[in-house]
Amino acid sequence: MNEKRVEELAFRVVGDMGGAFTMALGYVGDQLGLFKAMAGAGPMRSPNLAARTQLNERYVREWLRAMVAAEYIDYDPNTDMYQMSDEQAFVLANEDSPMFVGGAFHFTTPSTANFPKIMEAFRKGGGIPYSEIGDEIPHAIERFFRPGYLNFLAKDWLGAVPGLVARLEKGVSIADVGCGRGQSSVAMGKGYPKSKVLGIDYHGPSIESARKLAAKQGLTNVEFLQAGAHEIPKGRKFDLICSFDCIHDMVDPKATLRAVREALADDGVYIWSEPNASANAHENRNPVGKAFHSISPMHCMTVSLAFNGAGLGTVIGESGARALAREAGFTHFERLPIQNPFNQFFALRH
Ligand SMILES: C[S@@+](CC[C@H](N)C(=O)[O-])C[C@H]1O[C@@H](n2cnc3c(N)ncnc32)[C@H](O)[C@@H]1O
Repeated sequence: MNEKRVEELAFRVVGDMGGAFTMALGYVGDQLGLFKAMAGAGPMRSPNLAARTQLNERYVREWLRAMVAAEYIDYDPNTDMYQMSDEQAFVLANEDSPMFVGGAFHFTTPSTANFPKIMEAFRKGGGIPYSEIGDEIPHAIERFFRPGYLNFLAKDWLGAVPGLVARLEKGVSIADVGCGRGQSSVAMGKGYPKSKVLGIDYHGPSIESARKLAAKQGLTNVEFLQAGAHEIPKGRKFDLICSFDCIHDMVDPKATLRAVREALADDGVYIWSEPNASANAHENRNPVGKAFHSISPMHCMTVSLAFNGAGLGTVIGESGARALAREAGFTHFERLPIQNPFNQFFALRH
């Protein structure tokens, strides 16, 4: 036995234990407003943060010390002051920043409530339907992906398809299949007021929330439909169809892609995003690959297997996407030149 390897692995596991508990405390900080209360507030001591958040000082102090150990916030031992830097606030507190990751805390910790059901599925198969995955999860997913939609979708991501922005500016018909709580549909509707967006998702509470979001922003060119992805309205052609981070979740992804192809105008384009990971497990030995692969049985795979579906899991990678596109009849498939740490993007045509 190689002692160095044993030691390295044991330390990695303990590091992951720290990561898991840090995620849980991050969730506490996210939900109780601790990160936001520190952002831009300058150096402070624990009683000050406890007073600002109306929380128990002893808990707040221990949370602060754990966040210092996690290197999420700074500490000056000479003054006994804690401080959140602008960079830390950008990642932990500012919901609109392109690098905000509060959704990661929100997704991870509530997901652990599903472990008894997941272990039962390991024994007997099946899974947990999306409608039973936990009330917080759709909101957490929304918060995880929103920074990208808000900051990059309309101009940078859609701009990666030559000529598309000009068409969107003139006004075209867009379908957002698997739109969740509507952030991507709203970003497109807001970015291109002359285009019409139809968001489609089978999860009722998500569609309800999407409708509220569009109404709050006063958008009259964005509509939502609660329906399965294979039920894209017939007799209507779309110039642009998008699916963000949802095809791998579906019960029958191939049927969805076929329905997308059928609904796509002859000169239309289908833009599809998947997590930025590989279908080959050994190529996922990096933070993003590790995160997405560990989410897979807890979320993406189980919501599909709950209905005896394909259960593709979170990490189908470019090769899995290419294969699905080919099987669904698409003749053109390309990976778009979009630099994004969390997602890869494909453009498909008839
Ligand atoms: C990981 S979430 C992504 C949501 C959204 N696209 C986003 O990026 O925030 C996956 C979404 O796919 C939806 N979904 C899964 N299977 C579906 C199906 N067969 N028909 C319609 N929606 C589906 C779920 O309800 C969920 O909203």
